[in-house]
Amino acid sequence: MQVITTLAQWAPLRKSLTGSLGLVPTMGALHEGHLSLVRRARAENSIVVVWIFVNPKQFGPSEDFRSYPRDLARDAALVQSAGADYVLAPGVEDVYPEGFQTSVQVEELSRPLEGAVRPGHFRGVATVVAKMFCLTQPSRGYFGQKDAQQCAVVQRMARDLGFPMDIVICPTMREPDGLAMSSRNVYLDPAERKASAALYRALQAAERAARAGEREGEALRAVMRAELAKEPLGKIEYVSVAHLATLEEVARVNGPILLSLAVRFGKARLIDNIPLPDVT
Ligand code: PAJ
Repeated sequence: MQVITTLAQWAPLRKSLTGSLGLVPTMGALHEGHLSLVRRARAENSIVVVWIFVNPKQFGPSEDFRSYPRDLARDAALVQSAGADYVLAPGVEDVYPEGFQTSVQVEELSRPLEGAVRPGHFRGVATVVAKMFCLTQPSRGYFGQKDAQQCAVVQRMARDLGFPMDIVICPTMREPDGLAMSSRNVYLDPAERKASAALYRALQAAERAARAGEREGEALRAVMRAELAKEPLGKIEYVSVAHLATLEEVARVNGPILLSLAVRFGKARLIDNIPLPDVT
């Protein structure tokens, strides 16, 4: 496996590669969730590239860009063990050289949920993902269901701009107690870590209620709030029952939905979701 840290080095190398290329975009601080994407890419492509770049454009001014965990040597070892061929880890000045002024905005899908509490976040995501698609020309890009709205935004961008590739969405990897794996889980102290399992319990409770026939959006949101209220260390940012396709809140369920939530535990802001594509 080769670690490449400049785009100047990557460009000629890309030209020399033939066969299908699977791209796994990440911000590093890798865990089993990321590695599940790398393994899937390995199984489906002749070349696997893992992009590691903490993207300043997707962090708000009060967010954790500076303190985001960074350890390229550790990440490279993990990625190698999962079977990647290349790590592409460019610097900020390389991705956004002096005078950079272009951005990609997926209008409506970026507005609700995470977009409403993190203004500019999805513009930053769509911009950097579009740039990495151009630079790597993948056959397939691998993304985690953990970030459901990001998946929706990236799928729409790829379709709207005509990137000739498939977006592959991979299931959320969880700790044994159900907490979705996340680079931000390291911010949790032991009490918060224990309490954070409430996110998945809340989603599962709402899923059970929906499968049992509950159709009122507000009733399903109340189920999630009630479950989260059992862990007072968590401060709810939102609970949502949204149309799976548009991500707009539903009053009454009448088709596929996305159950999602965002909860703060101390310094950590955690998100999770369960899509219910088969609910009618
Ligand atoms: P990052 O948070 O590092 O996540 C990289 C990829 O790993 C994303 O597609 C994310 O959904 C996936 N992932 C994270 N936790 C997961 C889990 N528990 N199970 C399965 N997949 C998981 O998402 C980003 O980086 C950035 O926004 C990026 C797309 C790289 C653009 O900068």
